[in-house]
Amino acid sequence: MKRKPAIIRSPEAMGRWSAGLKGTLGFVPTLGALHEGHVSLIKRASRENDVAVVSVFVNPLQFTPEGFRKYPRNLAADAKLAAAAGASAIFAPSAEQMYPAGFQSHIVLPRLFAALKRQNLEWHYRGVLQVVMKLLQIVLPDRVYFGLKDPHQLALIERMAADFNLPVVIRRCSTVRGRDGLARSSRNALLTPGERAAAPVIYRALCAAKKALHEGKTPARAMRVLEKTLAAVPLARLEYAEIIDPSTFLPARRGAREALAYAAVWIGEKRLADNIRFRLK
Ligand code: PAF
Repeated sequence: MKRKPAIIRSPEAMGRWSAGLKGTLGFVPTLGALHEGHVSLIKRASRENDVAVVSVFVNPLQFTPEGFRKYPRNLAADAKLAAAAGASAIFAPSAEQMYPAGFQSHIVLPRLFAALKRQNLEWHYRGVLQVVMKLLQIVLPDRVYFGLKDPHQLALIERMAADFNLPVVIRRCSTVRGRDGLARSSRNALLTPGERAAAPVIYRALCAAKKALHEGKTPARAMRVLEKTLAAVPLARLEYAEIIDPSTFLPARRGAREALAYAAVWIGEKRLADNIRFRLK
């Protein structure tokens, strides 16, 4: 039986806890509503370090007001899952503790943000970078674990960490999928049975685009293959898809070390995003 993890509320207490540690600290930042994807990150952090810490913080700066209000919150359930996966402490501050009156700093990555503008999500990633920078300064981990599920987030954080010489190793962790290919996400719990049955088409469409590229089709043809695969499922509506170089967000070129096929898709009323990485021949 695993011990109950310490629940730490204030940045100061978290800093003291980390400073008193002997050995390495692995950190998994989360918004809560933990699922199998998080569990695999926590297990890895606890395997590779002496202790693992999980943060549970619904960051208002990366949500619309409605999204923030609706985001599921259940710290007791999250703490139980995190402990079972090997976490020794949960950092769960309030928004007031993270953003006291007067807070205003933010980080801009001009080229990556410019490439992101097509998705109109710059404000969201700005909020992500603000909170990740703060969390890393407070928790002071040796290693931090992020899933490949949000490739834009990961690339921005990696760039920020390199640009500011942050003394932390970033571990990329594979997306956890169901047997039918659907990527694990907190949003899956919101799907109706019909939407859940339709949702694996996103992964099938990404794989179909990759296959088309490997067969020598152009990125434009591969995108049409992706669109056709999605169009075969009436509940699925493509919002946005791209085949990019994941380190620049610019269109992937032949021979590039890595390419990324990304799709944001509405399944009924719910928006899901997924991606796969591969080498372009
Ligand atoms: O990916 C997430 O869960 C969040 O964006 C993160 C990194 C915890 C920042 O709030």
